[in-house]
Amino acid sequence: MAASQGGESAGTLAAFLADLTAFRDAAAQALAAATDAAALEEARVEFLGARSGRLKAVQKLLSGLAPAERPAAGKHFNEAKEGVTALFAAAQERLAGAAAPREADAIDVTLPGEAVRLGHVHPITQTIRRVQEIMARLGFESVDGPEVEDQWHNFEALAIPAAHPARDPLDNFYLAVARGAEPLLLRSQTSTVQIRVMEGRRPPLRIVSLGRVYRPDTADATHYPMFHQVEGLLVEPGTTMAHLKSVLRQLASSFLGGDVRVRFRPSFFPFTEPSVEFDMEWGGRWIEMGGAGMVDPAVLEAVGYDPAGVSGFAFGLGVERIAARRYGVADIRDFYRNDVRFLRQF
Ligand code: FA5
Repeated sequence: MAASQGGESAGTLAAFLADLTAFRDAAAQALAAATDAAALEEARVEFLGARSGRLKAVQKLLSGLAPAERPAAGKHFNEAKEGVTALFAAAQERLAGAAAPREADAIDVTLPGEAVRLGHVHPITQTIRRVQEIMARLGFESVDGPEVEDQWHNFEALAIPAAHPARDPLDNFYLAVARGAEPLLLRSQTSTVQIRVMEGRRPPLRIVSLGRVYRPDTADATHYPMFHQVEGLLVEPGTTMAHLKSVLRQLASSFLGGDVRVRFRPSFFPFTEPSVEFDMEWGGRWIEMGGAGMVDPAVLEAVGYDPAGVSGFAFGLGVERIAARRYGVADIRDFYRNDVRFLRQF
């Protein structure tokens, strides 16, 4: 027996290498089996532990070998040590990778998404589009006009002469222009568009124009210095006030819902004859909506039409007022405060 020949502690190189291989295989298996940090640490202590690890035990066997065998055994020992140390590092890396969530796992696509808050169209713009839509069904084409106007289109062609109080600088936003240049102003009514359209076209005409107008009015629940008007104009042979009333009734009924009655009250506008203020009955009350009338023959002449051959009607109403009515808004200034808590409701 080897033991009796070389003493109890003496071993052979072959036995040492067998132990080393067993150590290596067992370590490789334990490291591969480790599925968490605790198991890996347990394997490290068992195989590579500095005090009582199995590597240490195998190392001790080195000293029992014959001196001539030690260099070769030492070389094998170092290889095994490095191999197992590398396996440990690899296992450590593998577990670290598993612990860190991969990007695909970090997003749970089955969770409900974060809602994006959507904006929406301002109630005044909604009103404008709705009126355009209703008027389009009655055959009225939507047209635009400039907000900066000359005196001809804002006043003269509408039979508002130079001395008329409506032209007072305190009642209008005149622009600063060079001395001697033609006065310009922010239009005070959309009736300017009637003139611009009639100047460029021949009857029959059915147009509607919705846009901003400006007056130095003090803001209150029903007034704002910048507001919007709807202007309607129809010029066709044989037009009467009855046509005007039925168009206004259609507009009011479609816009407010239900069958809305319309009432005329005698009034005066320089560019219509006869002229009326019209009210709509809604919720049991008569609400003042705007002004209207038959286009004055003087206006037809000013744009080159023959008043003997054609007649027409025109009407104008405030967009803020009808929007307030429809949405139940008590103060039109709310439309322009830009408070999203208010605007979000529409
Ligand atoms: C006119 O402006 C005429 N151009 C209407 C017209 C057109 C008559 C065609 C005949 C033929 P008036 O100044 O009344 O009329 O204004 C019309 C509407 O604008 C009013 O009924 C009201 O609804 C609205 N309005 C007037 N001033 C303001 C204001 N400061 N703020 C909000 N709305 C206003």
